[in-house]
Amino acid sequence: MAPQANGTTNGNGADENNGSTVPEVNPPVDISIALHPNDSNAVPEILKGISSFGDAPSIDKDQTRLALLAKARDLVRALETPRETMIKHCWAQPGCYTAITSCYNLGVFSVLASDGGKPRKVTEIASILQTNSEVLTRLMKHIAAMGYIKETGNDEYAPTSFSKALTIPIIGDGYPCLAGGAHESCSKFPEYMAKANYATPTDVQAGPYQYAFNTKMNMFEYMQAHQPLGKQFNHHMGGYRQGRPSWMDSDFYPVEDRLIKDMENSSDAALLVDVGGSLGHDLQEFGRKYAQAPGRLILQDLPVVIDAIQQLDPKIERMNHDFHTEQPVKGARAYYMHSVLHDWPDNVCKSILKQLAAAMKPGYSKLLINENIIPDTGADWQATALDMMMITLFSSKERTRLNWCELLESPELGLKIVGIWSVQNGVESLIECELK
Ligand SMILES: C[S@@+](CC[C@H](N)C(=O)[O-])C[C@H]1O[C@@H](n2cnc3c(N)ncnc32)[C@H](O)[C@@H]1O
Repeated sequence: MAPQANGTTNGNGADENNGSTVPEVNPPVDISIALHPNDSNAVPEILKGISSFGDAPSIDKDQTRLALLAKARDLVRALETPRETMIKHCWAQPGCYTAITSCYNLGVFSVLASDGGKPRKVTEIASILQTNSEVLTRLMKHIAAMGYIKETGNDEYAPTSFSKALTIPIIGDGYPCLAGGAHESCSKFPEYMAKANYATPTDVQAGPYQYAFNTKMNMFEYMQAHQPLGKQFNHHMGGYRQGRPSWMDSDFYPVEDRLIKDMENSSDAALLVDVGGSLGHDLQEFGRKYAQAPGRLILQDLPVVIDAIQQLDPKIERMNHDFHTEQPVKGARAYYMHSVLHDWPDNVCKSILKQLAAAMKPGYSKLLINENIIPDTGADWQATALDMMMITLFSSKERTRLNWCELLESPELGLKIVGIWSVQNGVESLIECELK
């Protein structure tokens, strides 16, 4: 039987829109659209696409896995009704995020993953963690209903791969860190934008973040001043980059040819300076992959970040440095920034870049920027999601190719782009610049 609209008086949805603040549509959209699949006509074609992968697709190949996943998402979207999608967005996903964060902070996922991941009653978990089982029961029921832990009985659960992975700080710490130091900015963004008359946010001291958190600090300053948010953020950065194609791989960027081959051989020559390099995960990877490469590897970040490093390859030098000030390492083979410029609007990026350009040696030094390039069409959801974080948290943006060219080649910097290396939509490209 076809789903029926409840509570409508005329079947055209007018009753549901009583007192609405959104502009009227003429003629009004009928409520029945919200109760039928989003795109039932697309279902046969999507299913055909899925079956073309065969019974045992080789999902260990990332391209195959991602293509199949995209089809599976298409299928879910096509089958869901608009009403179900709305409930998922407004209740289920924020509720799941809230429940996971609370359980993460309590240590629930660590208990679940211990002793071989045997099924446990909520009362047992609550007793181990010395916490209230009533709330825990409800939190875990929703996480299980969303499929992220396994229900094995009445208020009894076992871990999944996902919930086990949450016990690794670089995977799990993003939850409390963003819950405590970021998402308020997303919630308040619509309110901020309405007050700002929808002008593009570009003010790093009075943008959506400062409005939401009632602060003058930027997100980095706020998180570092409200520990453990800062430490959790550093871990989150380490988690974000896991399992993604890396520019240091030979099928991405020719490191030997473009960096190492013509390296100066004096003892204090610097090979790679990672500016805003967080805990040093990129330089560690570089050191592992090019163990024989000559030259210093230098990690720069704010003192609060550098001081928090617990383990680092001894080959990597730690250096406190604020990139808004003069770059102390002169004439390095390459200055490298990963996910740094996207945190800042163009005027601030230019001032950071000026400090680097002033330290670069003409005809020798390179500037390597590892960032997303948003394509004109078909942008990847992870990159657009990051763009939403940039606008709400930093009054900044993920950039298109044109945005990058305009920024990096702006005349006052004296830089030129000499090459852009990209391997996959949704994975950061490597942009190489030199002095003009
Ligand atoms: C988005 S994170 C990227 C970290 C790292 N490059 C990565 O890809 O994982 C931005 C980094 O910029 C650092 N940062 C922010 N303001 C800075 C400043 N004024 N000087 C130096 N580093 C800064 C932050 O501490 C943080 O580690």
